[in-house]
Amino acid sequence: MATLAFNHEEIAARELKPALFELDGISRTTIEAHYRLYQGYVAKRNEILGSLATVDLGAANQVYSDVRSLKVDLTFAVGGIKNHELYFEHLGGEGGDPAGPIAALIERDFGSADAWRADLRATGMAGRGWAWTAFDWDEGRLFNYVGDAQNSYPIWNATPLIALDVYEHAYFLDYQTDRSSYIDAFFDNLDWSTIDDWASKYQIPK
Ligand SMILES: [Fe+2]
Repeated sequence: MATLAFNHEEIAARELKPALFELDGISRTTIEAHYRLYQGYVAKRNEILGSLATVDLGAANQVYSDVRSLKVDLTFAVGGIKNHELYFEHLGGEGGDPAGPIAALIERDFGSADAWRADLRATGMAGRGWAWTAFDWDEGRLFNYVGDAQNSYPIWNATPLIALDVYEHAYFLDYQTDRSSYIDAFFDNLDWSTIDDWASKYQIPK
């Protein structure tokens, strides 16, 4: 049995900031539902990395093997963590039009804030799990990418700045099947100062 013992640290779920329980049009119950799922992703990420420490590398097989199962499911768990940490962090604001340097980036790459909003809304309506506004470092521009699950379809070498959760748990309690009204509420609660801080931190080129 060939195994690769490697170091990994367990991570803990981040706490929710209090502002998330007072959003406009997205209930506390809905935020708590996201959070329980997020805690589950953190627990499974830790569990999977623990299992990978003793997996039989010699048995790796593309049809079925423990290595395959663990590595594929790790992408779902890690995606669920990263997506929700973005989502939680950039909600709790006043919405409205982009402000600060991010406004200029959006105008450059989408033409206007309205055009960006219309495109992200359509991307969210077309997705089965997520829509992201991300900066693609190879193309040198922002683009709204669609996601069907936590691990599909992030683009390599792109940095997500806005993460719109459109899984049913994100809106069904508050809007039943009216996803579009939930997307309105999402826009109304965006915290542009947080998004702008990310754009600065990552040094997105202007
Ligand atoms: Fe969620």
